[in-house]
Amino acid sequence: MKKYNEKEINRRRTFGIISHPDAGKTTLTEKILLFGGAIQLAGTVKSRKSNRHATSDWMNIEQERGISVTTSVMKFTYRNFEINFLDTPGHQDFSEDTYRVLTAVDSALVVIDSAKGVEPQTIKLMDVCRMRQTPIMTFINKLDREGLSPLDLMADVEKNLKIECVPMTWPIGMGKRFQGTYNLYKQSLHLFSSSESDRITEGIRITDLGDPQLDELLGAQADELREDIELLEGAANRFDVNAFLAGEQTPLFFGSAINNFGVQELLDALVDLAPPPGKRQTTTRDISPYEEVFSGMVFKIQANMNPAHRDRIAFLRICSGKFTQGMKIRHHRSGKDIQVSNPIIFMSQGRSTVEEAYAGDIIGIPNHGTIQIGDTFTINEPLKFTGIPHFAPEHFQIIRIKNALKMKQLQKGVTQLAEEGVVQLFRPLASNDYILGAVGILQFDVIKTRIKYEYGVDAYYTDAHLDCARWISCDDPLQLQEFEKKYKMNLALDAGKNLIYLSKDRWSLNYTMEQCPHISFHETMEQH
Ligand code: G4P
Repeated sequence: MKKYNEKEINRRRTFGIISHPDAGKTTLTEKILLFGGAIQLAGTVKSRKSNRHATSDWMNIEQERGISVTTSVMKFTYRNFEINFLDTPGHQDFSEDTYRVLTAVDSALVVIDSAKGVEPQTIKLMDVCRMRQTPIMTFINKLDREGLSPLDLMADVEKNLKIECVPMTWPIGMGKRFQGTYNLYKQSLHLFSSSESDRITEGIRITDLGDPQLDELLGAQADELREDIELLEGAANRFDVNAFLAGEQTPLFFGSAINNFGVQELLDALVDLAPPPGKRQTTTRDISPYEEVFSGMVFKIQANMNPAHRDRIAFLRICSGKFTQGMKIRHHRSGKDIQVSNPIIFMSQGRSTVEEAYAGDIIGIPNHGTIQIGDTFTINEPLKFTGIPHFAPEHFQIIRIKNALKMKQLQKGVTQLAEEGVVQLFRPLASNDYILGAVGILQFDVIKTRIKYEYGVDAYYTDAHLDCARWISCDDPLQLQEFEKKYKMNLALDAGKNLIYLSKDRWSLNYTMEQCPHISFHETMEQH
């Protein structure tokens, strides 16, 4: 097959960053943007946090709420590579959002705190990556502090993240004794200085570890490094690009984000090792990024990013072909062609208009609620990209209003927030309630804030006394009808009008499942 736009596509890297809260994801993100030339000034995390709105509009909102709830997309150029950098929500309660973001990336970067090792949220996110065989790079952060030994960290990653580790760099000491890292592949030494402003330059190249220069530079720790390297040469895995691309092996980098240490090395590896845009699955066939005809999928909707404009942006990953400003593309769910005259790209300094973009790029399409998560756009072929499911919620609340005149606003608010994927909305077959479902309990905080401030609705929330939910399907319409009749009190329709069974506890769910073997109960539902 002829590869269209090959040169442009091969110089694109689209990756997401994930970590347990506090591991240093925000700090590393900022430093990557700094080394990538996307921002000029790095402050400490503190000063940056207070100036967050300078880099993206909606982070301001997160700052007020004190948690990272949204996903930002940033684009920059590094070494002639076009990098699309996707941040993910740090908190586990937003793992559904993280999953959706990971459908749009070609690789992911995991940040781990060297003192804490692998933490629960990292394990959960890693499971998500594994579901999609996403290639993973790992950055062990905070080497300027006392932490676990590098060998223990490796064992920890292998055991808890269930992925083979390949150290690409190796730390020389840690905490007060941290002297830098040795790059095992480039055979070069990077000496650490705690300066926050310096960019690291090419390391000192040491091809022979016996070189007395090493003793001059590292003193007594030179021998420690020699022993470590000897050990690694015998015992560590070799980097295997196929195992990495299959998500079975992760290259490991050590550094200290706050001190800018190890960041450039990491960024270089991201462009050198991480894959260019890959193929994407649809219900009918796989789509290669090198196909000439444009196609794309929406993985995220963000409303009211700029409260002054009350805008709504659909984030679309281009899956194949080239996009040009003003292009007419078909929105398959509605069957309509739309002309995208004001597509947006997010640069660190703000938004700008996209003139052209290629497979792997993320563009924002402003709209008024017509576009939903999971929507496919192409020129003509009726494709449907797969892999953006809803997960069965585990928390349920009923939302009601004090002032009946606000019913319209409530409807609008919950529907829009459900379309954004902030919450799932269920309408019971047997009542007029609005049941909200969430995978993580904190999602309700976001709903409550947004319903109040963005939609002006004074609502109150009551426990729905539900514990789990399963989507229902059945090949036989008659049996389905019978099931609907019998379990009407437990059934509801989701925002996409799919039938879902809501249960007050797991025992009852299992009992119903046993009673109805001809009915299929699903924990996930692909969005329509
Ligand atoms: P997150 O996005 O993963 O939640 O982490 P974030 O970057 O906000 O960093 C969490 C904390 O870890 C911050 O400290 C930050 O300064 C610190 N940190 C990040 N990288 C390094 C590093 O390389 N070395 C050390 N020693 N610390 C690092 P904080 O106490 O929350 O804020 P602050 O009071 O230090 O500003």
